[in-house]
Amino acid sequence: MRTLAIKPGGRAEPSADEPRPDMTRPIDDDIVIEDDPEQDVVVFEAREVTVSYSGAVAVEGVTLDVHAGRITALIGPSGCGKSTLLRTFNRMNDLIPGAEVSGLLAYHGHDLYGRDVDPIDVRRRIGMVFQRPNPFPKSIYDNVAFGPRISGIRQGLDEVVERALHQAALWDEVKDKLRRSAFALSGGQQQRLCIARCLAVEPDVILMDEPCSSLDPIATARIEDLMTDLKREYTIVVVTHNMQQAARVSDMTAFMTTDVDQTGHRTGRLVEYDDTDKMFTNPTDPRTEGYITGRFG
Ligand SMILES: Nc1ncnc2c1ncn2[C@@H]1O[C@H](COP(=O)(O)OP(=O)(O)O)[C@@H](O)[C@H]1O
Ligand SMILES: [Mg+2]
Repeated sequence: MRTLAIKPGGRAEPSADEPRPDMTRPIDDDIVIEDDPEQDVVVFEAREVTVSYSGAVAVEGVTLDVHAGRITALIGPSGCGKSTLLRTFNRMNDLIPGAEVSGLLAYHGHDLYGRDVDPIDVRRRIGMVFQRPNPFPKSIYDNVAFGPRISGIRQGLDEVVERALHQAALWDEVKDKLRRSAFALSGGQQQRLCIARCLAVEPDVILMDEPCSSLDPIATARIEDLMTDLKREYTIVVVTHNMQQAARVSDMTAFMTTDVDQTGHRTGRLVEYDDTDKMFTNPTDPRTEGYITGRFG
């Protein structure tokens, strides 16, 4: 693993003896993704990542590694910055006016915020599924075909759509009504459709922001099963306010909370990050223990 040094007061940079990644090429051509499941591949290295909105710090100094082929859960009380941190992983904060990210976020060893990195390409490789299913006002088929069409794929679209719907465990339920509106599906099916839409562009990572919070327990269980299936091929980072869900599905858990200063300003911080089993049975920090045992938050 490359060592990364943070420049005082500025953006993080690789240490002087490490060659700086060549960011002049598209991020795509540069990255060889290891597929040896035995090897522990680090997908994201966050180092002192801080996010502010219009100058007000929302999340400060987050340092953690996200590992390939695992499910990493972000938990913590409302407003502690889980969604904000999640959005740094695919540059979605770029789309929020006034949002600013500092520190280093490396993706497979490349500065995700490097000048020559194309955020559109980043968001294709690192897909996002939101709290409320947000299918486009189009047919089931056209929702899944949307991304591949944008990337210029014209041939073999049927196969791409079928494969993505299979992967999202939705094919059997929709194969006879692909031309029907996505809105005709139930909430849980719509969420799996959004996952299929994300998978159709063959991402490397799937970010999920409370993907089950609008779903009933049965639809939730289907999404959780799906996540467990998907982690064989994808790296998943999931925000959840449901601690049982984090305990059930994730391999790693990051617990965040908010500090309040004298002026009443709240800043989100990472308290503890470890194997999920350890976090839920023997956490190191009393704040983690307080949260998981329901004493606060
Ligand atoms: N788009 C935004 N503009 C300004 N402030 C925001 C925005 N999104 C989030 N925040 C602020 O950042 C902090 C963290 O929010 P968020 O990341 O949504 O927390 P969580 O997902 O843990 O509930 C909160 O204080 C919230 O008000
Ligand atoms: Mg949130």
